[in-house]
Amino acid sequence: MKISRLIFDSYSEKNQNKNQFAEDVDKGLSSHPKNISSKYFYDDLGSQIFQKITQLDDYYPTRTEYQILNSLKDTLPEIIGAGQVDIVELGVGDGHKTKILIDSFLEKGVKVNFLPIDISKEALHLMEKNFTSHANLSVHGIVSDYIEGLSFARSLSENKMITLFLGSNIGNFSREECLMVLRQVHSLLRERDYLLIGFDLKKDIDLMTRAYSDKEGITAEFNVNLLRRINNELGGNFVIENFKHQAFYNPELGAMESYLISLQDQEVRISALNKTFHFDAFEPLHLEYSFKFLEKEIVQIGNESGFKTVTNFKDPRDLFVDALWQA
Ligand SMILES: C[S@@+](CC[C@H](N)C(=O)[O-])C[C@H]1O[C@@H](n2cnc3c(N)ncnc32)[C@H](O)[C@@H]1O
Repeated sequence: MKISRLIFDSYSEKNQNKNQFAEDVDKGLSSHPKNISSKYFYDDLGSQIFQKITQLDDYYPTRTEYQILNSLKDTLPEIIGAGQVDIVELGVGDGHKTKILIDSFLEKGVKVNFLPIDISKEALHLMEKNFTSHANLSVHGIVSDYIEGLSFARSLSENKMITLFLGSNIGNFSREECLMVLRQVHSLLRERDYLLIGFDLKKDIDLMTRAYSDKEGITAEFNVNLLRRINNELGGNFVIENFKHQAFYNPELGAMESYLISLQDQEVRISALNKTFHFDAFEPLHLEYSFKFLEKEIVQIGNESGFKTVTNFKDPRDLFVDALWQA
């Protein structure tokens, strides 16, 4: 796999202007309430822990989307109707769901140029292990934020392009951010191009809560790993045991929210920033929103960001939607 790196995600990697992680941690821990973006969950260990989450009985989204992709895999190449396709993916993770779609295109004799984008180079390395070489498949990974990566991928694309935004990654944005991101995506596509995008539906609150706070404590481990990442990459001295993972559904926002709660009054030093941050006892550190949607909201979001809905693919239990939109 060829790799292009548009950002550097480790403090040790010279180009400190581009060390967005350090800058964002500084900004987030200086804010009230304190916060760090969930996009930083995925270092080496974080990407591996997320793989474990996707296999948990309680974690329905991955299994459900897998089922939906299996049911649409033969339809998609027919709709796209081209002998060669550029498949771009925003936030590919380990790509095991994407493989279903790519294999289907290859089986039908379609040449695939796969351009997976992820902010985490570790995720791209995990992904690479899921793909075997094929004469009709080329893979060019891009280490980047979504939009910068899509813009780069678009500059390389000469064929009909389908962009994948799976796994309800879009749910990590507020409604305003979501529209802004999707309008940017729309502006980078050509009229003939498609977007296949995952949305987690609003559903039974207990079912959602179990998915983000599993009884085996893997999600808790995933969230506190972000503190470990700060310790390792930015010279922090977070004491992991002094923070507790807490996840709940906010019905007013329509989102699962994840926090780490400081269990005591404490100071945390981050040497790369040359700063010390104070946490009060029970002070929250906000890590993630995971917004949930009604089908009518999905259609509205598509319209408001400039797309035409082609079809909504849904699982039989009404848990998740993969919407196919045309630019
Ligand atoms: C929850 S995982 C989902 C992976 C995959 N899409 C799936 O459905 O299984 C999110 C992935 O998106 C990546 N990611 C998160 N925020 C990102 C951003 N702003 N730009 C690029 N990648 C991002 C993470 O590194 C991670 O690999």
